[in-house]
Amino acid sequence: MLHLRLLFPLLFLVLPVQAETLREAAGGKLLIGCAIATRDLDDPELTNLITQQFNCITPEYEMMPEKLVDDHGKFTFDTADRVVGFAEKNKMPVIGHMLVWHFITRKWLFESPDGKPLPREKALENLKTYIDTVVGHYKGRIKAWDVVNEAISDKDGEYLKDTPALRAIGPDYIEKAFQFAQAADPQAALYYNDYNIEQPGKLDRTLKLIHSLREKGVKIDAVGIQGHWLLDWPPAGMIGKGVEALSAAGVKVMITEMDIDPLPRDSSGADMSQSEKGANPYPETLPSEMQEKLAKRYGEIVSELVRHPAVTMIGFWGTHDGRSWLNDYPVKSRTNHPLLFDRKLQPKPALDAVIKALALPKEGRSPNRPSP
Ligand code: G3I
Repeated sequence: MLHLRLLFPLLFLVLPVQAETLREAAGGKLLIGCAIATRDLDDPELTNLITQQFNCITPEYEMMPEKLVDDHGKFTFDTADRVVGFAEKNKMPVIGHMLVWHFITRKWLFESPDGKPLPREKALENLKTYIDTVVGHYKGRIKAWDVVNEAISDKDGEYLKDTPALRAIGPDYIEKAFQFAQAADPQAALYYNDYNIEQPGKLDRTLKLIHSLREKGVKIDAVGIQGHWLLDWPPAGMIGKGVEALSAAGVKVMITEMDIDPLPRDSSGADMSQSEKGANPYPETLPSEMQEKLAKRYGEIVSELVRHPAVTMIGFWGTHDGRSWLNDYPVKSRTNHPLLFDRKLQPKPALDAVIKALALPKEGRSPNRPSP
């Protein structure tokens, strides 16, 4: 493409030229994120891909409570510092992921050694100490924090998941976490992050949480729809309606962990308590007809997302298929192909589909998108 631009410069002045990277296509109007891990930083080919294609970083695992603090309350920031350092060197904002998540935590935060819930005041003290230490360590360096992850129940009729924090502190553990985070770094944006919240039922429970926090004057800047979707679920229109409903509640909306699973499975999302037995239909590569289906689905969803001014970020959960958590979920050890680059870091048809969708002509894009 470059040689053509040299030979026929005038041509490229008059013809629209398709962006060659995700971040170019987003044109500064959207953050295009990816989840990375410290181990990715030792692969120069991969770090080149990350800096060329993306403009925002989420540490995939390095900032989880299990990784930052041990069973005795000793904090270690080395691996997370490496990811943040890489992002800063490449002028890429970082989303701190996350402060509170029942699935990956340290028991002592909310439970006594015998597994019983700690007294409320002690649990609150531990939560505040944890957030003060972590958010304080990165004060001024982290654009935003996923303050609470996956607290809303998947079950109709149940509002919040039954977690150690809920049992020890009560439902206001969520607002307390947001208040502690704001006090520790008033400049950082604060997010709630969850899966399937674009879908009826869980969407309503999430709206209840957002309204409840905002009515109490709690700072919540955005909601992260994780975006762990399937080839045929949820419909793009449902995603769009979910974005509109969340935005109408007064928050920005981000797609924080997008991947589209081309393999057969029962449900979308990321309920880590679920596992399935399933086939491993494409152990080597994804056949071209499946590549096309994946590309069409990515294009359809991203075209829908860019129509909504509230969407300020589209983040992908991983950089290439070999690094996807979906190689192990919900079916253990199968070869998955959910992302935009294959295991050899080569672009898949889905990349072109997303670039085209991001660079939708003016009429396809929303005006006055808020800053990311
Ligand atoms: O780093 C250790 C390694 O030293 C050790 O040898 C190995 C085996 O025990 O574990 C490695 O840590 C694993 C880590 O991923 C890095 O690979 C953890 O055990 C494992 O639990 C962790 O899984 C992460 C998972 O969250 C749970 O923390 C996945 O990488 C990550 O993709 C996944 O991401 C979550 C989001 O945070 C929230 N939304 C859902 C999404 C998918 O579950």
